[in-house]
Amino acid sequence: MRAIIYSRSGPSSVLELAERAPATPGPDEVRVRVAVSGVNPTDWKARARKPAEFGEVVPNQDGAGVVDAVGSDVEDLRIGDRVWIFLAAHQRPTGTAQEFTVVPASRVVRLPDSIEFDVAASLGVPAMTAHRALTVHEFGPARLAPAALDDRVVLVQGGAGAVGHAAIQLAVWAGATVIATVSNDDKAALARAAGAHHVFQYPDGELSAKVYSVAPGGVDHVVEVAPAQNAALDVEVLANHGSIAYYANNNGDEFTAPITTSYAKNVRWQGLLLYTVGREALTVAAEDITAALEAGALPVGAEAGLPLTWFSLEDTASAHDAVEHGVTGKVLISVADDLRKKDPQAR
Ligand SMILES: NC(=O)c1ccc[n+]([C@@H]2O[C@H](COP(=O)([O-])OP(=O)(O)OC[C@H]3O[C@@H](n4cnc5c(N)ncnc54)[C@H](OP(=O)(O)O)[C@@H]3O)[C@@H](O)[C@H]2O)c1
Repeated sequence: MRAIIYSRSGPSSVLELAERAPATPGPDEVRVRVAVSGVNPTDWKARARKPAEFGEVVPNQDGAGVVDAVGSDVEDLRIGDRVWIFLAAHQRPTGTAQEFTVVPASRVVRLPDSIEFDVAASLGVPAMTAHRALTVHEFGPARLAPAALDDRVVLVQGGAGAVGHAAIQLAVWAGATVIATVSNDDKAALARAAGAHHVFQYPDGELSAKVYSVAPGGVDHVVEVAPAQNAALDVEVLANHGSIAYYANNNGDEFTAPITTSYAKNVRWQGLLLYTVGREALTVAAEDITAALEAGALPVGAEAGLPLTWFSLEDTASAHDAVEHGVTGKVLISVADDLRKKDPQAR
């Protein structure tokens, strides 16, 4: 089979196309024939910065495809199941940039029949991060479902990002009033297409007033991509007992926040990292995301606010570069064109 590999960290040129034999799944693993590999910032960062702990590494955490072999202890997945994969390459060298990947069954989720592989390969890192950001707070639901966030206001900083897009969609599905920030008109159109009720551009000295004009009681949850720039605004617009779930350090790795206003509002600063969040959080995220998929709440594509940029498996290096350079939307790699054509929605 064709596989993209790297054996040392560095620029995208360390990625090579190789021929490898498909691995055999262990008792609690499944092998998936990959249709689409999804690329996230974590994939190029891991390749660029981390020494390859396992010798040879196949990159990319997210993907979608069809189960083609099942370990002896796996009970809830069958050969032929259409699935999406999350954290394929976490603490193991077997990512999704290859024709067959072997993954723990706990990181493989059955796909509703109506959902196509481009949606499925866009879920893992972005949707699970968004789910956690929307469900970790002092008050408010720990699960997402229709009406779970009724009467709550969510501010998504960076609403045209991949995580931001998923946060808007999940929050809207769960009934929240959703405010998104973006940096330009094109991204504003995308955030609206994703379902945001109010979209404001940053930077803007009037942003706080604009948020209060549409949410007079303040914001209950902030989904924050750039705390170094937005911490003060987040605290200013937050309602009492509000939370700021920060998941990235875009544009700076340190932040200052107003202390008095923070404690006076019982603000919760809530960090989150998918790799360390724990099994329970991932399991409930996968369940809720499946329910949202079944409801048709997580479409992708420009018309849904998430333009797709496609690459071939051979051109995985360009896919990594596109994400590193901040392409707007989702970067996907077509690994098996024939599987994608057979996909019910792709015909
Ligand atoms: N903690 C975790 O588990 C976790 C999980 C997923 C992702 N991440 C990290 O999260 C970051 C985003 O990932 P992604 O896939 O969503 O990337 P992305 O698609 O490139 O989106 C990043 C977004 O952040 C926006 N942004 C940057 N500065 C901003 C600011 N000051 N205010 C508001 N928005 C701002 C960008 O918009 P403009 O360019 O227009 O400013 C862009 O839309 C990456 O650093 C990634 O590594 C962490």
